[in-house]
Amino acid sequence: MTMQKIKACIFDLDGVIVDTATFHYKAWKRLANEMGFDLTPEQNEQLKGISRMKSLDILLDIGNISKTDEEKQALADKKNNWYREYIREMKPDDILPGTIRLFNELKEANIKIGVGSASKNAKTILHQIGIENYLDSVIDGNKVSKAKPDPQVFLKGAQEMNEKPEHCVVFEDAQSGIEAAQNGGMYSIGVGSEKNLYKADMIIAGLHEMNISKLKHLEK
Ligand code: BG6
Ligand code: MG
Repeated sequence: MTMQKIKACIFDLDGVIVDTATFHYKAWKRLANEMGFDLTPEQNEQLKGISRMKSLDILLDIGNISKTDEEKQALADKKNNWYREYIREMKPDDILPGTIRLFNELKEANIKIGVGSASKNAKTILHQIGIENYLDSVIDGNKVSKAKPDPQVFLKGAQEMNEKPEHCVVFEDAQSGIEAAQNGGMYSIGVGSEKNLYKADMIIAGLHEMNISKLKHLEK
């Protein structure tokens, strides 16, 4: 896919800007272990990018366990409390390599920067790592009703930045997020391994591998 002029880049948060995907995995695995089963890294790929409650439903399916709505709420709260413990100490040093350099290059080129995350903890993390000033838009789990692969989170971001989807590039580490970008008519860059992100228009190992000239190269 080639694209028109790039006017905005929308970044997923967990696993793209910070390594919090590992904390989500750690907390879900702990919950699974408590219920008597394990969660492999491969199974965890299905949990990336989607909402907390949807992730819990998939986890319970994997463990072949059924719970009432009330029990589910308690389990989701427990996982979230552990997760919040893990992220409590996060600071600017935890921003993944290349992120700030890329943000500066985008600013310089007048390309807007948005965050599009399923997480209800996104605001807390953005505050702790101190990148709020770079952002033209933040759409998080509190602002969306439809989970990735629905494009809502990215379309809302584009709208907030006053840009059309065809002028936006999405950076994502989750399969569901790549599909969301594509469903919204945006160019998708997978951040991570080819094995999980083969549907993306382009794959990089991390933001350290991206720069303004590579982005400009995508334009028609
Ligand atoms: C996404 C993560 O960014 O946010 C998922 O990839 C997570 O793993 C989801 O479940 C919801 O996060 P939270 O912080 O609202 O539980
Ligand atoms: Mg992610």
